[in-house]
Amino acid sequence: MIRSVALTGLAAMSIFGSAGMANAQSGELVLYCAADESICRLLSESFQRETGINVLMTRRSSGETYAQIKAEEGQPRGDVWWGGTGDPHLQAAQEGLTAAYESPMLAELQDWAVRQAESAGYRTVGVYAGALGYGYNTDLIDPNSENAPQCWADLLDEAYRDEIQVANPNSSGTAYTLLATLVQLMGEDEAFEYLTALNDNISQYTSSGSAPIRAAGTGESSIGIVFMHDAVAQAVMGSPIQTVAPCEGTGYEIGSMSIIEGGPNPENARIFYDWVLTPEAQELGAQANSFQVPSNVNAATPPESPNLEDILLIDYDFDLYGSSEERARLLARWDAEIGSL
Ligand code: G6P
Repeated sequence: MIRSVALTGLAAMSIFGSAGMANAQSGELVLYCAADESICRLLSESFQRETGINVLMTRRSSGETYAQIKAEEGQPRGDVWWGGTGDPHLQAAQEGLTAAYESPMLAELQDWAVRQAESAGYRTVGVYAGALGYGYNTDLIDPNSENAPQCWADLLDEAYRDEIQVANPNSSGTAYTLLATLVQLMGEDEAFEYLTALNDNISQYTSSGSAPIRAAGTGESSIGIVFMHDAVAQAVMGSPIQTVAPCEGTGYEIGSMSIIEGGPNPENARIFYDWVLTPEAQELGAQANSFQVPSNVNAATPPESPNLEDILLIDYDFDLYGSSEERARLLARWDAEIGSL
């Protein structure tokens, strides 16, 4: 046992040269992961196996991870925040909670991932993209009926009273993406009117963004508002789920990654950052039923991934909706007008 641990340490040193020696000695990376548990685990285990660096991973939703990093400001305990929607990463960057790093891997990334980095002074970077939508249970809603839902407007039908779940936008980046998307699609007051009407059909505001589609998959509810790739994942795992790209158009996420300012293992943070942007690491997504579009141009997009070019996407204003003032203002309005209902 001791022998195999020692050998792993030696392997890490030889891969990363002299800089790696310190890593092999300190040997730890504290990862805050804000995507689904399965991909968080697979990335942690794969990185640990390849480098010998011990990964201590915690999974929370995007807004919760932002809040934790904010609470730890001045005494940060985490090194890297991987995944989750981009808006709270941009907010953290603006507040100086995350550190600038220009990875050599930037040259291999899609324009949308590099733009995310540039707009935040390289304090964050895009790791994947995915469009917002919803999924419904085809045992409970007939996909061949002419009333089958296709649009955001269809979700207000009283046939779906207490049959829809969506997350709370304070904890969940998915639900914040919904809020910002509706504001951009409809105008702010109209978006809040829509959310007030939708509230009649909501049975539960969950804390995690993808929980609503798991509930639809088991038939606990009929519809879950989620990223489309999360609905696809349930179908791939055998649940009777139909994925919908809403007819009015929809928003999308640039799932992001940031290094936490002043974290305990900055060298290992950069080693993880460079590794997780490689095509090999990004292609692990499909093995974990994580069907986002990867940001490395050389990583294969899983065939199951919703094709973003076929979806009517809004021109999502990441700078505005990822700013501290706007995110805080919209969440406060949501608490006052929707959360309080
Ligand atoms: C799921 C999706 C990710 C997304 C994340 C946001 O894991 O697969 O693409 O970034 O949800 O999670 P949250 O719980 O913050 O909505």
